[in-house]
Amino acid sequence: MKFISKFLFTLTLVITVVLGQHLKDVEIEAKVNELLHQMTFAEKVGQMTQFSGTNKRYEQMIREGKIGSLLNVIGAEVNNRIQKIAVEESRLGIPLVIGLDVIHGYRTIFPIPLAASASWDTVLIRKAAEIAAKEAASAGIHWTFAPMVDIARDPRWGRIAEGAGEDPFLGSAMTRAQVLGFQGKSLADPLTLLACGKHFVAYGGAEGGRDYNTVDISERTLREIYLPPFKAAVDAGVGTLMSAFNEISGVPTSANQFTLRKILKGEWGFDGFVVSDWNSIGELVAHGIAKDRLEAGVKGLTAGVDMDMEGRCYTTDMEALVADGTLSDGLIEDAVRRILRMKFKLGLFEHPYIDENLQKKLILHQDHIQTALELARESIVLLKNEKDVLPLNRKELNTIALIGPLADDKDAPLGTWRCQGKQEDVVTVYEGLKNKFGDDVKIIYAKGCDVKNNSRSEFNKAIKAARKADVVVMVMGESADMSGEAASRADLNLPGVQAELINAIAETNKPIVLVLMNGRPITLSNIESKVTAIVESWHLGIQHGNAVANVLTGDYNPSGKLTVTFPRSVGQIPIYYNHKSSGRPNNPSDKFTSKYIDLPSSPLYPFGYGLSYTEFRYTGIEVENNRLLSTDELVVSVNVKNTGKRGGDEVVQLYIRDMVGSVTRPVKELKGFQRVALEAGEQKTVQFQIPVRNLGAYDLDMNYTVEPGEFGIMVGGNSVNVLTTTVEVVRLK
Ligand code: BGC
Repeated sequence: MKFISKFLFTLTLVITVVLGQHLKDVEIEAKVNELLHQMTFAEKVGQMTQFSGTNKRYEQMIREGKIGSLLNVIGAEVNNRIQKIAVEESRLGIPLVIGLDVIHGYRTIFPIPLAASASWDTVLIRKAAEIAAKEAASAGIHWTFAPMVDIARDPRWGRIAEGAGEDPFLGSAMTRAQVLGFQGKSLADPLTLLACGKHFVAYGGAEGGRDYNTVDISERTLREIYLPPFKAAVDAGVGTLMSAFNEISGVPTSANQFTLRKILKGEWGFDGFVVSDWNSIGELVAHGIAKDRLEAGVKGLTAGVDMDMEGRCYTTDMEALVADGTLSDGLIEDAVRRILRMKFKLGLFEHPYIDENLQKKLILHQDHIQTALELARESIVLLKNEKDVLPLNRKELNTIALIGPLADDKDAPLGTWRCQGKQEDVVTVYEGLKNKFGDDVKIIYAKGCDVKNNSRSEFNKAIKAARKADVVVMVMGESADMSGEAASRADLNLPGVQAELINAIAETNKPIVLVLMNGRPITLSNIESKVTAIVESWHLGIQHGNAVANVLTGDYNPSGKLTVTFPRSVGQIPIYYNHKSSGRPNNPSDKFTSKYIDLPSSPLYPFGYGLSYTEFRYTGIEVENNRLLSTDELVVSVNVKNTGKRGGDEVVQLYIRDMVGSVTRPVKELKGFQRVALEAGEQKTVQFQIPVRNLGAYDLDMNYTVEPGEFGIMVGGNSVNVLTTTVEVVRLK
């Protein structure tokens, strides 16, 4: 009886919520239609127009209903002032939606997304996005151009820093976490942000890793590698997507009817809106598929780009084209409807202004800084630790030589797209170590060299410092502007004379701990054997120095795992773990197999890799049922034991391989992961439950199918060292 009444109560609750939402949606659609009926052509294209910044001319245009959105206007006071013009001085009073690139924090800067993904911690990443949303929203921002969900298999591409690395499954999990974090439970909550999955799509596939360059990929690769994180964004309720700069196989993505209309708005039923990237519609002229901006506008709109960012392509000149039938009025109505729908969902009509007192209360709140520290610590990946040189032993340590251009640098930790991040908020590695050691350990700091210029004039000072020390900590890598947009590199070695300085310091025979700061995998083969330990710290945000100090001293046991492969040499690129077998898989004893004659095919550090100060042992991989229907669930368990002397977190990863199919399949595909905390000596059984339908692929006819047959199931702490078993997927009789 009790059970029945509980059931009925829950059912009523669910029905009320669903019905309530449905009624709200119906109400919104009615309001959108009502507004649309009143709008002139100029007001419609106005809603579809977005400009950057503000000035008197734009403000007049807002008054005239000719701008629907602004980006890069920052601060509650200025945003309220401009919003007032839209709401109180324009004919229809339609509020603006104000956007900004809030990528890894607003003022409290978190690790860059590539770093954060190395935590594999979706809970903390969601929390960081929530905080970023709160801070930005308090400054009058409604919309962030994040998350960047582009899969990147080429570390030459600078924008690899902005995403979650090379894997579609992990990328999808990170996407979901960020969308849920930014958008919260309700977009109408004034402290959430409308999210924007970008850049739709395959932007990361740029030939040669050169930003904005041509992409030529198959539909299979598009659907299996590049699209899944966007689908995850849509499934998580993302309100907007951004079309990209690149073409795909001859069709620029900002004029791509196949990806935008057919897949996104058709197959996936996306009801939010698409904004172009910065002038990406205008660039259709340079791409060579439009003779002028007007034609570019028609192509962009026809493909399904609803809002034009800084392109000046959606203009009243289109009206004549509607009149002569070249352009359908329905397309314009659809675009405006999508934009207005989102403005209603954001609650902008009811609450167009933000409380100006919130900024002071929220920005750089102590809890935000604490989360920045936690995520920064989890993002660090220990790549090498010979002779257990780490953690540094406080008791035996008298002097540390701290060397390198980034050791006391307040800019690099902020990384690319630092939004309102300020150098004054940053804790450098030098400061972090001083915070930890106080007067207990002497730190001799010597910059040694710069990141970019080739001067060796400071080498001697650094060598002298090293000679006086028990251990040398070298902080090196890339400055913040060496990754991100328009920051592709052809050479991935440590820039400038940094490698030379490492070689010079190595001559002192002191143990060297190399702390790397960079926005992409860099090639380390030239210095790897010269250093005792390598700590990959990326660009970790304002708490960079404290996080690194926590790891170096062992107050935090590193747990990060690479989400992108580290090549030995640029010549191996593209290199990624989920590659195909080929007809002649690499066999070292057979020349005529797929490999290089001057370098191993394997990477320096594989996907999923990262060390800890303790050891984890995997045993007893088991599947609950080794014959499965495609409608079943695959249940896999494995025992993971902490066999070392200190507690730590391990990221347990599950990979599959479809052994024989109608099309070739990758040698490994990530399908599950879990972070588990284990005390010294503790063992846990980790269980994965994976719907068999998730093991499928696109068949010869491009239908997503789980083909019957054998699947390899692999579980381990990285993509190489795994325990293996098999299951068979059988056909429904
Ligand atoms: C970038 C986008 C960004 C936009 C607005 C473009 O150059 O490609 O990622 O959101 O600028 O700042």
